[in-house]
Amino acid sequence: MSKQLPEGFLWGGATADFQYEGGFGEGGRGDLSHDYETNGSLENPRHHTMKLADGKIISPKSSFIDAEDVPEDAVPIYLDSQYYPSHKAVDFYHHYKEDIKLMAGMDFNVFRFSIAWSRIFPTGEEKEPNEEGLQFYDNVIDELAKYNMQPLITICHDEMPMNLAVKYNGWANRKLIEFYLKFAKVLFKRYGDRVKYWLTFNEINAVRGFGPTGVRKSHGLDRYQAAHNMFVASAQAVIAGHEMMPNSMFGAMYALSAFYPATSKPEDIFHNMQQNKENWYFVDTMGRGYYPSFADEVLKRHGVLGGLSDIKMNPDDKEILEKGQLDYIAFSYYRSATSKAGDKFVNVGGNDNPYLEKTPWGWGVDPLGLRYTMNLIYDRIQKPIFIVENGMGAIDKADENGYVEDDYRIDYLQKHLSAMADAINIDKVPCIGYTMWAPIDLVSLSTGEMKKRYGFVYVDMDDLGNGSLKRTPKKSYKWMKHIIETNGAAL
Ligand code: BG6
Repeated sequence: MSKQLPEGFLWGGATADFQYEGGFGEGGRGDLSHDYETNGSLENPRHHTMKLADGKIISPKSSFIDAEDVPEDAVPIYLDSQYYPSHKAVDFYHHYKEDIKLMAGMDFNVFRFSIAWSRIFPTGEEKEPNEEGLQFYDNVIDELAKYNMQPLITICHDEMPMNLAVKYNGWANRKLIEFYLKFAKVLFKRYGDRVKYWLTFNEINAVRGFGPTGVRKSHGLDRYQAAHNMFVASAQAVIAGHEMMPNSMFGAMYALSAFYPATSKPEDIFHNMQQNKENWYFVDTMGRGYYPSFADEVLKRHGVLGGLSDIKMNPDDKEILEKGQLDYIAFSYYRSATSKAGDKFVNVGGNDNPYLEKTPWGWGVDPLGLRYTMNLIYDRIQKPIFIVENGMGAIDKADENGYVEDDYRIDYLQKHLSAMADAINIDKVPCIGYTMWAPIDLVSLSTGEMKKRYGFVYVDMDDLGNGSLKRTPKKSYKWMKHIIETNGAAL
């Protein structure tokens, strides 16, 4: 079966501001909730650096999967002894022209990036937006237009102005809806004439800890109250966005790497079905516009014993969720995992699959799992899907010119893109596009390293921010260009 994709398919790359942009403190940017997060590694988790009321310094784990609680009286503090990767990231702030040109060189027709909320509203509470911040993204969008690339904007990628986390306990507080809507509407007004595709939140089903949600408690009621507030904020943004930009398309993004039962034992199969509901809770509510019948079951598993009746809701929330349904379902897919009876329920992670090879960071490589996931989502929600993250974090060895022979990445992408093409051409799953994570090397979210590289373009920088930041296309760059030129036929 031909791998050629339907005309108009969107090909591109995806990034997030605090991993890519840098420009800390420049152009009026305020502190973000990730700015106090240290670098780390697979063995040593990242931490937030904080100070208690009695002056004691603490560093709660900000791990991707299992973040530690942040005490009520803790406030963030910078320590000279630490490196904070979000401050410089890989400096897209000063390299955007060069980077966009490199992406255009691969024939991308879409580029996904997120807006640093604190660049537009430094504390989140200002009445008026910061003009210099707005201008930066204007420049980015105009630069994209020069090469006929359309933007795909993530309004909120796992972050917020630090002030909103410290002062309000982040998304656990309903006030955040107001601040988010003010922010979103400013973006719609300013960029709406040039942006069709929007994502309200990144990996919203992960609701993982203080950095991404600003919530001090990383488990239980606060976490699900935060999710509810984000659902309502997303729905209100969709409603406002559709009014302000009639041709706009709204999605939210979910971490949906596949879960398989570890064995064919009925108990494992049943457990895995429940495991999947941990994530359908989020996809269904936003994709169909109402909480699924199993919402109470999920909440009770997380200690919210009264189920949905324990979540604070306003009388009109139901109607807002219904009206503010998503137009498409976006997701990230990196790996698959297994689950078995008795396992703890998780949103990302899971057990290894013995049939799969793993990346150096232990992520099981499963191209067919991508086709499987695409089918599952579409069969369930019956709305177009958009793969907005997929890629391979690997250790690249650059030669003295910065060139990397990344055949392993080509192999990973060739297999995943082929599986995607089969889902589209054989299974008839409508898919808007594919944005690979991340076209230019950037800082890893989970470990804060540079060593975990994804890009088609090598960036000369190490885990502590040393390096010239020089950009050099890898072997995969030319390969990807050819795949895009042939709209997938060369796969
Ligand atoms: C997704 C996030 O979880 O996965 C990205 O949306 C992240 O922000 C990506 O970078 C890959 O994860 P990591 O930890 O390898 O950077």
